[in-house]
Amino acid sequence: MSIEAKSERHALGHRMKRKEDPRFLQGKGNYVDDISLPGMLYAAIVRSPYPHASIKNIDISEALKVPGVKAVITGADLEAAGLGWLPTFHGLDKQMVLAVGKVLFQYQEVAAVFAETRAAAYDGAEAVQVEYEPLPVVADPFTAKKDEVILRPDREKKTNHIYHWEVGDRDATARALESSPKRVSQRIWFQRCHPAPLEPCGCVAHFDTMGRLQFYVTSQAPHVYRTALAIVTGIPEDKIHVISPDIGGGFGNKVPVYPGYVCAIVGALKLGRPVKWIETRTENLTSTGFARDYHMDVELGASADGRLTALRVSTAADHGAFDAAADPTKYPAGMFGVVTGSYDVPVAHAEVDAYFTNKAPGGIAYRCSFRVTEASYAIERAMDILADELGIDAVELRRKNFIKKEQFPYKSVLGFTYDSGDYHKTLDLALEKIGYKALLEEQAEKRARGELMGIGFSTFTEVVGAGPSKHFDILGIKMFDSAEIRIHPTGAGIVRAGTKSQGQGHETTWAQIVAEELGLDPQNIMVEEGDTDTAPYGLGTYASRSTPVAGAAIAIAARRVREKAKKIAAHLLEVGDGDVEWKDYKFQVKGVPAKSVTMKEVAFAAYTNPGPNEPGLEATNYYDPPNMTFPYGTYIAVVDVDRETGEVKVRRFLAVDDCGTVINPLIVEGQIHGGLAEGFAIAFMQEIQYDSEGNNLNTNFTDYLLPTSLETPHWETANTVTPSPHHPIGAKGVGESPNVGSPAAFVNAVIDALSPLGVRHIEMPVTRDKVWRTIRDAEAARK
Ligand code: CDP
Repeated sequence: MSIEAKSERHALGHRMKRKEDPRFLQGKGNYVDDISLPGMLYAAIVRSPYPHASIKNIDISEALKVPGVKAVITGADLEAAGLGWLPTFHGLDKQMVLAVGKVLFQYQEVAAVFAETRAAAYDGAEAVQVEYEPLPVVADPFTAKKDEVILRPDREKKTNHIYHWEVGDRDATARALESSPKRVSQRIWFQRCHPAPLEPCGCVAHFDTMGRLQFYVTSQAPHVYRTALAIVTGIPEDKIHVISPDIGGGFGNKVPVYPGYVCAIVGALKLGRPVKWIETRTENLTSTGFARDYHMDVELGASADGRLTALRVSTAADHGAFDAAADPTKYPAGMFGVVTGSYDVPVAHAEVDAYFTNKAPGGIAYRCSFRVTEASYAIERAMDILADELGIDAVELRRKNFIKKEQFPYKSVLGFTYDSGDYHKTLDLALEKIGYKALLEEQAEKRARGELMGIGFSTFTEVVGAGPSKHFDILGIKMFDSAEIRIHPTGAGIVRAGTKSQGQGHETTWAQIVAEELGLDPQNIMVEEGDTDTAPYGLGTYASRSTPVAGAAIAIAARRVREKAKKIAAHLLEVGDGDVEWKDYKFQVKGVPAKSVTMKEVAFAAYTNPGPNEPGLEATNYYDPPNMTFPYGTYIAVVDVDRETGEVKVRRFLAVDDCGTVINPLIVEGQIHGGLAEGFAIAFMQEIQYDSEGNNLNTNFTDYLLPTSLETPHWETANTVTPSPHHPIGAKGVGESPNVGSPAAFVNAVIDALSPLGVRHIEMPVTRDKVWRTIRDAEAARK
C-alpha cells in the first residue's frame, strides 16, 4: 500500500499524542503560561519609549517600594555578571540583553522586575524611572547607508553597513542585460511583517533542588537553546534541561533566544525561586523577531519573443538594531539565491546589503526557508511586469521559461541543484482546474464594460530542508536532525525527534512514517519532541525542515529497526537471514509466503526469545541531508476590484502544490490553508510600520491585522507528486509553500485587474486605500 493511500485512513482516526508533564504542570493545559510552581515569581520588562536615546540614569528605588516586588535588574548588573550581550544565532552580531548606555529601538529591554504577582511586576516596571536623552533616529536602510549617524559604535567597523553578500556573475549579467532586446526594472519592497503567533513568547526558569536549570520555554529549537544557554550563562550543559511544551504557534518567531529568557534565568538564580516571564502581545509585536523588510531592485532581460536573458537583483535589507536574523552561518541573506525561481535563467547576479536601523531586530524565517519568500515574491512579480512589457500572457511567459522536466537535477546559475520537478504538469493541472480559458473570456467581457477583474499567477519554487552539513550550521552546529525509535514488546513504540511541532501535526506524521516502514499501527506509536533530556540532539523545526531532515532520519531509523527485526524473524522462522524478505508488511521466507511473522510477533520475541541476537528493538539516526528539497506550486488568484472604492474581492484562489511524496494529505491541506491565510494577510493587510521618528505604529491586533474567517477567501487545493530523489521516502517540505507562493499571486491578480489603467506595480500590503488612490491617479493621468 502506498504511504498516501494508508495515510488517508489514518488521518481521520489518528489522535494527537502529547506529553503531559505531571512533575511540573499543575495548570489547565500544556502551555508555558499554564505552568505554576510553588514560590514562583513573575518577571516584567521595562521598555524604552525612545527609538534612539542615551540612558542618563536608571532609578529603581521607587520600584523596590512597590508591594510584592523582590528585585530589579538593569543592563549594568548583567554586564557586571558577564551577561550583558547575547550572541545572535548566525554569529555575525550580538544583542544587548538589557540596554547599557543607550537604547536602539522603541520597546527595547531596559530593566527587569521580579515580583510575587504578575500585576506587581508590571506596577514595579512602571515605577522604574529612566532618564533618556534622545538621539537622531535612523528609520530606514537608505538613511543608514549614509553613515551620518553611527548606531553601533560598539562594533569594530564604525558603519551602519552590516554585510554585503552576493552570488552569480556580475559582469556577465550586466552585459546580458545591456544587450537584451527587452528589459524591465522595478523596486519591489517586501514590507516588514511579523509572524504574530497566537501565544506570545515566554518561559519559566527554575533551579531544582539539585541546582539544575529546568527551563520551560516557547522554543522551536530546544537543543540549540540548551547549547546557547550553556555558552551564554556558563552553566554546564548537563545542568540545563530545556522543555518546550505546546508553544501556540511559532512560524519562525520562536527560533531566536530573547532577552526576557536570560532575565528570567538570572532572576531565578539571584532570588532562588522559579521565575515566569510571559510577554504581552505588544511586546511580541514590537521587540521579537520581525520578518522580511527587503527593498529589492529587480531587473529582467528577455528576447523579443519572451525568452529570459538575465536577472539582476540588488537588495537593501533593514535588519533593525542588531543583526538577529536567524540564518545559517554561511548564509547571511539566507536562501535568497533561489531568486531565479522556476525559470531557466542563463545568467544572473543577486546581492544583498544589510543595514542597522533604529527598529526592532529580527529578519527571521517567518514560515519561510530563510529569505525564500522575498526571493519568490521578487521573481514572480517581475515576471508579470515583463509579461506586461512584452505584451504576452503571464502564463505563456512562465511556460516558455520553465526549467523542463528533463533538466532535473537542475543546477541554477546561482548555485542550487534543484532535486526534481515537473512545472508544466503542475501549471497545466492548475489551468484546467481553474478553467483559465473561460476566465479569460469573462475578463475580456468585463474589461469591455470597464470592470476590473484580475487573474494572478505565482509559479514558485522553494528550497527547504536545511541542510547539508558541508554548508549549513547555526552557532557552528551542523544542521542535521535526528530520530530515535524504540519498539516495545507488544508492537507499540515511541519515536523521539530533534524537531518541535508547533501545530504542524508531527505527532501524526512521524507515527505514520514509523508505521509505514515497520507495518505497525500508527495509533500506538507515541511521538515525543521538545525535551532535551529525552529527544536526540536536533536543530528543531522552522523553514519547513522537519520532513526533509527529521522525516528522513525517522525513516532511516525505522529501516534500522527493520534490519535488526529481520535477524530475529530469521531466528523465529528457523532460516538464515538471507532467506527472509520484508514483503506486504511482514517478514516472509523467500518464495514461501505462508511462512511469515509480523513485526508485532518479532517485537515480542525481541524481549522474550531473541535467539542469538541482542535483545531489544530500537535504533537511532542522525541524518545529514545530501541536498535541500525543492517543493513548488502553481497558485492562481481571481479578483474583482471595485473601481469606485478600491475594494478587492478575492473571488477564487487555487493552490496546486507539489511537495513530493505526501505523508498525510489532510495535514498537508491544513498546512496549505493556514499558510494561504497568512499570505493573504501579508498581501492585503499587514505591515509593521514605523514613522520617520522610529515610532512603531502597529503595536497590537487592532493596528496589525489578523484575517478572520470573514475576510479569508475560500481555498481550492490540488496537488501533483514528484518525489525527491534523495529523500528516503521522496518527501519534500510543505509547511511554508503557501506563505512563500501566495503573496505574488494575490498582488499579480490586483495589478492584472488594474493593468488596463496602465498600472504596473503597487507595494504590499495592497490595502483598499492604496488601490483606490492608484485608480484615481491612473484615471487622472489618462484624462
Ligand atoms: O518543519 P515543519 O514541520 O514546519 O514543515 P514540514 O516539514 O513541511 O511539515 C509540516 C507538516 O506536513 C508535518 O506534519 C509533515 O509531516 C507534513 N507533511 C506531509 O504530510 N507530507 C509532506 N510531503 C510534507 C509535509
